Amino acid sequence: MFKAPRGMKDILPAEQHYWKYVCDEATQISRLYGYERIDTPALEYTGLFLRSVGEETDIVEKQMYTFEDRGGDSVTLRPEGTAPVCRAYIEHGLHNLPQPIRLCYFGSIFRYERPQAGRLRQHQQFGCEAIGSADPLLDAEMVDMAWRLCTLLGLKDLTVQLNSIGCQVCRSRYVQQLRTYYSSYADLPCPDCRKRLQHNPLRLLDCKNPPCQEIAIKAPRIWESLCDECRRHFDSLKDYLARLQIPYELNPHLVRGLDYYNRTVFEIQAMDTGGQNALGGGGRYDGLIELLGGKPAPAVGFAMGIERIILNLQKQSMQPPARNTARVFLAYVGEDAKRAALTLADDLRQAEIGVVVAVDGRSLKAQLKQANSLGLPQAVIIGQDEIQSRSVTVRDMARGEQASIPAEQLVSQLKAQSASGGIAGTNSTYGTGS
Ligand code: HAM
Repeated sequence: MFKAPRGMKDILPAEQHYWKYVCDEATQISRLYGYERIDTPALEYTGLFLRSVGEETDIVEKQMYTFEDRGGDSVTLRPEGTAPVCRAYIEHGLHNLPQPIRLCYFGSIFRYERPQAGRLRQHQQFGCEAIGSADPLLDAEMVDMAWRLCTLLGLKDLTVQLNSIGCQVCRSRYVQQLRTYYSSYADLPCPDCRKRLQHNPLRLLDCKNPPCQEIAIKAPRIWESLCDECRRHFDSLKDYLARLQIPYELNPHLVRGLDYYNRTVFEIQAMDTGGQNALGGGGRYDGLIELLGGKPAPAVGFAMGIERIILNLQKQSMQPPARNTARVFLAYVGEDAKRAALTLADDLRQAEIGVVVAVDGRSLKAQLKQANSLGLPQAVIIGQDEIQSRSVTVRDMARGEQASIPAEQLVSQLKAQSASGGIAGTNSTYGTGS
């Protein structure tokens, strides 16, 4: 028996309505803020990620799916979406368009991680990138979009964690201070932190190991080291977020796991999911376009993990819209009625009313049972009597009531009910449910 690769998931029909719900809202958000869709390949040349994500990050050191293709080139399944968008920006001369350019994407991301709930080896991201401006208004726009998506979806108990990690100049001063502070600890509790002290001291601050966290708590904070420009940028961002009434929390230990960030970093976190609590994250990456060979262009962005959003919707018992987009079950008794049902289904679909037609010649009782289990609010029944009288029987599945109407009035009646909100199942009112 074959199974899906470890850490990779099938998305079965029963879960698709969550995906549609989240992706529709994300698309709506991108429209509201003027972001245009970009798609990049799932594979890139490996060098792109070595250069952008950073050779000493966990992603590059431990998590990339890298292999040689048949032509001998080293390629990597994308472990994140920002570097590919920047590569495309440079390759297609998007700096020639009015700046900043606002782009969004949906796509699979591949990271060879230890799988657990909310941590997969293939996950999907919705991401947004604004390239070509250093204005802190854009940083606020990113936090605002990520936050709005979560609140529109009805998610609760989330926090926005915010930090500034400064620019190259003030950060390198800070890293020096950090090294001095940590050097007073002769023996760091975890081997990862001992390595971080050598290669990536900022990451000492977000080690999840409790003894390491105790040391990190007393470490000097970056805010005191920010240069005037970085401080002003950070102050403006905080002011804009306050104006937008986004309840952020300042977190001096938020540094994120990719090397390209400078100044703003942020995450949207769920309060209760332990290790895998980040639903989304992002920040500013002013040097990345230049690092990848483009003309300097400051930029900022974020990405949300769709599986983690769905996991949280499910934990919070948020019910997306009805699973089945069809709303009518077409039941019939007998061969003549079956043929009539086929053309009636066609009429309904022409009128954009979704229909599921019974098959396999089951009893009427079994057909109605199926309509129920599919969650369809109405059944239309055709039997010999209906054929003779050119009528159909319309059954309200929830109430169990039914009425006979002339067949030619069916489409107009269903449309009228739909317009008045009389039929559940097609509208998209999202509510809480069990
Ligand atoms: P990231 O924080 O690595 O950022 O990933 C963004 C989101 O993807 C995370 O907050 C999380 O929800 C989800 N995610 C990450 N890894 C996994 C996993 N193994 N399984 C399930 N979900 C996961 C980035 O990738 C940056 N490119 C974001 C960005 C865009 N920064 C600027 N622009």
